Amino acid sequence: MLWGVATSSYQVEGGIEHADWNAFERRLGPDFTGAGAACGHYQHALSDLTEIARLGLSAYRFSVEWSRIEPVEGRFDQTALDHYRQVVLSAREMGLEPVVTLHHFTLPEWLARQGGVLEPHFPSRLERLARLVGSALPAAWWVTINEPMVLAVMGYLTGEWPPGERSLLRTRRAVTALVEAHAAAYAVLKETGRERKVGIAKHLTPILPHRPANLVDRTGSLVQHRFFNLDFYRRTRGCHDFLGVNFYARSYARGLSGVRRSRPGEAVSQMGWVTDARDLTAVLDWLRPSGLPVLILENGLATTDERLRSAYLHSHLMALMQARRSGLPVAGYLYWTLWDNFEWREGWGPAFGLCPRPAEGARFAWRPAARLLARAAASDGEDLGSDPG
Ligand code: BGC
Repeated sequence: MLWGVATSSYQVEGGIEHADWNAFERRLGPDFTGAGAACGHYQHALSDLTEIARLGLSAYRFSVEWSRIEPVEGRFDQTALDHYRQVVLSAREMGLEPVVTLHHFTLPEWLARQGGVLEPHFPSRLERLARLVGSALPAAWWVTINEPMVLAVMGYLTGEWPPGERSLLRTRRAVTALVEAHAAAYAVLKETGRERKVGIAKHLTPILPHRPANLVDRTGSLVQHRFFNLDFYRRTRGCHDFLGVNFYARSYARGLSGVRRSRPGEAVSQMGWVTDARDLTAVLDWLRPSGLPVLILENGLATTDERLRSAYLHSHLMALMQARRSGLPVAGYLYWTLWDNFEWREGWGPAFGLCPRPAEGARFAWRPAARLLARAAASDGEDLGSDPG
């Protein structure tokens, strides 16, 4: 099983200037602190990998930044490609299995200006990126798109992320474009390496009725579950070598389309999310019938309470190992994330990291949860110690 940690380019690299999020941050006004220099990971990538390997992990998930590779339409930057190739080669030398994400929320600004995901040629543009990056990077594990449903909903339904729209029709179109883009990128990545494992990172969340006895909330929970959790997998059947899962928390349906993060009085994380490892068990049970290996690509807690972070990790690993013992093929577990990093619209507030944001002279100050993950990695999940909670 792979044991590792996951990051994404815009959230940690620093110095990205031509992505749609750069422009969106400017729209949020001068009080919003954007990604900026982030965690300086682009500059320090190789020494950062050394530290991750030294902790005893066996996998590292990262994303390539499209706006670095293709800063101008049709013009590709060899230096950026060489950088990511070096990351893959070095990771492998250090015993870290690279898991490469092609698209993790950000788009080059030129593409966003042309319509982004809804630009009619979006699928073939992602396919072209997949061909280029797929040929250059000798990695075995690939994620074409990170959380396509979250991208579509946040960008086109709630308008909280770029391009900031609020239209159900355009949300549906965005989902269709992402379905086609995944299928195209999947085919190309398999063409450039038959033995590769290719999938997506699918955000999965049990959606419970906010008011358990309310019929409309109950119907809403079923409708939303179908739309948010199941549809993308259903529409891309046959284009997954593994089921990539990002799991954080449950959510609630209020009415047919309303969403709530918690019920009154419930304990929540810094993101306002209610966490319970039994929800991970439920999610894993949905995936059993597919027979495909499950790879947890993200799982983590935003908190400043390290005892809570360790307890979250411990309980979720217990749930995962229980599922493995009962026959679920589990390919790996990657914690989200390495450092406290740029958390999109929430900026720099939420602390998801195994380490605080890098500071001068201290890029890695491992928190207790990192030791727990290392212990799990060393024993392949057999020894998780006692419950830190
Ligand atoms: C995303 C990450 C994000 C994390 C925590 C996932 O939705 O892939 O980019 O930081 O959740 O919110």
